[in-house]
Amino acid sequence: MSEDTAALVLGASGGLAQAIIGELMADPEIGTVIAISRSAAPENVSAGTVKPIWIETEYTEPAMAAVVEQLQSFAGRITRVVICHGILHSETLWPEKRLEDISAEALQSVFQANTVVPVLWLKLLHRLLKSKQRCVVAALSARVGSIGDNHLGGWYAYRSSKAALNMMLRTLSIEYGRRVKNVKIISFHPGTTDTALSKPFQASVPSDKLFTPEFVAERLCGIMNEAEIDGQLSYLDWDNKSIPW
Ligand SMILES: NC(=O)c1ccc[n+]([C@@H]2O[C@H](COP(=O)([O-])OP(=O)(O)OC[C@H]3O[C@@H](n4cnc5c(N)ncnc54)[C@H](OP(=O)(O)O)[C@@H]3O)[C@@H](O)[C@H]2O)c1
Repeated sequence: MSEDTAALVLGASGGLAQAIIGELMADPEIGTVIAISRSAAPENVSAGTVKPIWIETEYTEPAMAAVVEQLQSFAGRITRVVICHGILHSETLWPEKRLEDISAEALQSVFQANTVVPVLWLKLLHRLLKSKQRCVVAALSARVGSIGDNHLGGWYAYRSSKAALNMMLRTLSIEYGRRVKNVKIISFHPGTTDTALSKPFQASVPSDKLFTPEFVAERLCGIMNEAEIDGQLSYLDWDNKSIPW
């Protein structure tokens, strides 16, 4: 195990995040896994005896800055970052089917979770990530955030929050390319994966198109291991294929 390296999983309690934590914990190239969440660590946080470092936080900028301060001892040693935040539905919001369903409150909540929180992390983390080691950052986006691929309409808030996330990541990649040259950023589409987020929409998905979180975590970690540090944002699916913007 390399004691000199660490991986960060942001938004760590979700279905995909849990599987990604498991995959990173099993990677002999990664010494420490740090999980950050609004919630306390789940009981079964990893199958083995070694557990990730678990940090609870709110997602206000001052609280997030305090977490980054707490991580100073890992400066220059972080080689993987996976940003897992995302909401599609909740007790108070549901993806819009038509114009009448659009609400300012829902748009604001979805943009806050899906776009603002990931971008704030990348604003706050850049000094910690700067290093001589390669570091790969993946943000979980979605194919429905592709403007070119939008033929169906609907899901206004979710789609546009992911399109905005992609634009933010592209813009960040340009600045990181100048200032934090060891970092590669990937906007990643996991495919429809069996988690709480997709549960209400799984009925119409053929069983061979509904992935397990473990399958997706393995694909994502493989893609991150191979990614070239080229100062560009890549928008990739679980099969390592590019998605049109
Ligand atoms: N499942 C799919 O089919 C699918 C398909 C395409 C894209 N994705 C994307 O994959 C990512 C992970 O989703 P999942 O399927 O694992 O869903 P999930 O199990 O519902 O997890 C949602 C994640 O979002 C975070 N989160 C929830 N509410 C939040 C809020 N208000 N503010 C900030 N963070 C919040 C949670 O982090 P905490 O630990 O802090 O609670 C959690 O990690 C999302 O970005 C999603 O859009 C999923």
